[in-house]
Parts: sequence; structure tokens; C-alpha cells
Amino acid sequence: MATVSGFSPPPYPYDRLAPVQAAAARHEGGVVDLSIGTPCDPPPAAVIEALAGSGAERGYPPSIGSVELRRACAAWFVTYLGVDVPIEQIAACVGTKEFVATVPQWLRLRSPERDTVLHPAIAYPTYAMGAKLAGGRAVAVPNDPLGHLDLASIDPADAERALCLWINSPSNPTGGLDDLGVAAAWGRRHGVPVFSDECYVAYTWDGPPRTILTAGLEGVVAVHSLSKRSNLAGLRVGCYAGDPDLVAYLSEVRKHVGMMVPGPAQAAAVVALSDEHHVDEQRERYRGRLQLMASVLEQWAGVNVALPAGGFYLWIDVGDGWQFAERLAKEGGALVSPGDLYGPDSAAFVRVAVVQPDERMRLVAERLATSAP
Ligand SMILES: Cc1ncc(COP(=O)(O)O)c(C=O)c1O
Repeated sequence: MATVSGFSPPPYPYDRLAPVQAAAARHEGGVVDLSIGTPCDPPPAAVIEALAGSGAERGYPPSIGSVELRRACAAWFVTYLGVDVPIEQIAACVGTKEFVATVPQWLRLRSPERDTVLHPAIAYPTYAMGAKLAGGRAVAVPNDPLGHLDLASIDPADAERALCLWINSPSNPTGGLDDLGVAAAWGRRHGVPVFSDECYVAYTWDGPPRTILTAGLEGVVAVHSLSKRSNLAGLRVGCYAGDPDLVAYLSEVRKHVGMMVPGPAQAAAVVALSDEHHVDEQRERYRGRLQLMASVLEQWAGVNVALPAGGFYLWIDVGDGWQFAERLAKEGGALVSPGDLYGPDSAAFVRVAVVQPDERMRLVAERLATSAP
């Protein structure tokens, strides 16, 4: 076997949960999985019909996204977020995870003198992984007391080396909402492209949904996904939109790589984007589940569980995230994510994804009520 002197992938974050998962699975009725943020509710029937009936499976789909898909995205940007984006400045991605993970390497090819990805210190781990996959460095930006990225704390030497800054609002895992206009201005001032991961925008609880594009398109790229909005994580459709030069460059490179959303998925996404009714319904489901699970955990653990400003995660300070996750698995048969999966500063927290039906969460409550003290 060849000896490896370079990159070898670390354990995948959720694979680290296997022993805790095994403890939860010993309960009759099985594990109630509140770890990964994967939707369980159905997408609209019209989306599934479009998937089966588009006739788009024979030919290669456009990597940048069909004109219909990009028009549907543009219309959604206007009606949902109040911003005008020309369709030339919108492109498709195969879900947003691959985009997040690969963007730094394409930026680095174009600016080889830069090597740094700036990302929130408490964050979705793929921002830092993207830096590693580009052979570069990830630099965590802490939050200020308001929970916003503390942009003033960024070392000017890191800003000079930065390929991009990631911002994520509503945040996974904290549920916080950031000031996207301030991030856009910081990026323009420092010549650093700002990528705004807005994949939870449909679940903005405090105030209206917001996008970085409201602050202008120059120097920024907003990233959106149908996975959470429309319960279509299995379909793999997202889009990115904003700065004309960045979108043109990235969509050209990605065309060479062969990154393509399958044609039937593109057609189905057009149908999903044209409907808000199913999103309103889903919002109500998550709102109810956040309240339900918050009260279950408050009663059982005696901890304070605040509802998030956005997203469908409870982010709870429990003292020791792994210990809490193990106890909850043993006593309630529920699997949650210890906070250190989202950064070394979060070991005291757990993240609870309310992605199971109400009856499964009630099952956790029943188990906890009858578990030995
Ligand atoms: C913050 C954030 N960004 C991006 C993604 C990727 O979503 P998808 O690849 O399904 O679009 C996720 C998924 O959980 C996420 O939490």
C-alpha cells in the first residue's frame, strides 16, 4: 500500500456518534434521530410529478442550470427576498454542501497567492473542510457578544490571505441571525469575497427573511438550497447568486468539472420554487416541534432551552455535550449532536435537530418520564 504523506480524511463528524446511536437504538421503538438536519416530511406532490414527467433525463443538463430553473430562482429572489438578480448572475449547484466544500479550491486556483478561508468559529464543519480540501488554512472568526461575527477581530494578515469569508444566517448550529450588510461592507473594504450561506432562510423566526444580496451584488454570493425549504435533501438542488464575476468564474470552472444537477431534479426544483404554501406548512411543523422539544428537555434536564431566532435546531448549553448526548441516548433513546462537532469552543453544548414527527418526540418524553432517576 502507498504511504500517505498528505491529506487523509478525518472521521466524518456524524460517524463519531455511532456508539451513542447504538445506546439509543436499544430502546423498544428504536432511536429517535435528532442529530443530522435531514428532513422527514414529504415534499409537494407536484414536485414528485415533475420529477417523473419532465423528460429531461435523456440529454445532459446545463451545469449552470436551465434557463427555467434560473428564472424560477430569480422570481423567488424577488418575491421572497425582495432582490432583483439577473439570471446571468444565478447558477445551480448539486445541493449546497458540495459548493461549500469546493469553492475554496476554485478560488485558490485563480488567486494562488491566497490560501485562507475565514468562517464562523461555531459552524457547519464543511466551511473548514473546504479550506483543507483546497490545501489551504481555515481561520475561525469568533462571535461578538451579540452573536454576530466579530469581524473587527480578524487579523489583517489573515484578511490579506483570505480567499473568502463565510457567513451563515440563520446559523447552523446556533440559530443566530447575523448582520449580513456589515459582512458585505467588510468584504468590499478588504477585497475579500463574502459567501453567505442562507440555506435556512425559510425558517427565520425573528423578523423577515434576509439575504446578503439586499446590500448589493458586488463582491458577495448568496447560497440557497431546496433541501430544507422544500424537504428535498435527496434531490440535491441549490443555487448561488450575486457578484457577476464570481458567478461567471465559478460556473465556468464547475462546467469543466461536470458539476450538474440532473435534468429531472432541475425541472422539479422549478415547481418547488414556484410554491410557498408547502414552505408555510413546514414552517409551522418546525415551530411546533421546536417548542415541544424545548419543553421536553427543559423538564427532564432542568436546563434553560431558548428558542432560536432562525433554523430548526435547539442549541443548548448543557455543560458537557458528549455526556449529555450519552445520557439522553440511554434514557430517552434520542440521538443529538455534541457541540464540539461544530467547533472546539462548543464542547459545552448540544444541537438538537427537530426533524422527527411529533409522535417520535413524544415517545422521547414518555421514555424520559419513566426512566430511572
Ligand atoms: C449551514 C448549512 N449549509 C449547507 C448545508 C448543505 O445542505 P445541502 O447540501 O443539502 O444543500 C447544510 C446542511 O445541513 C447546512 O446546515
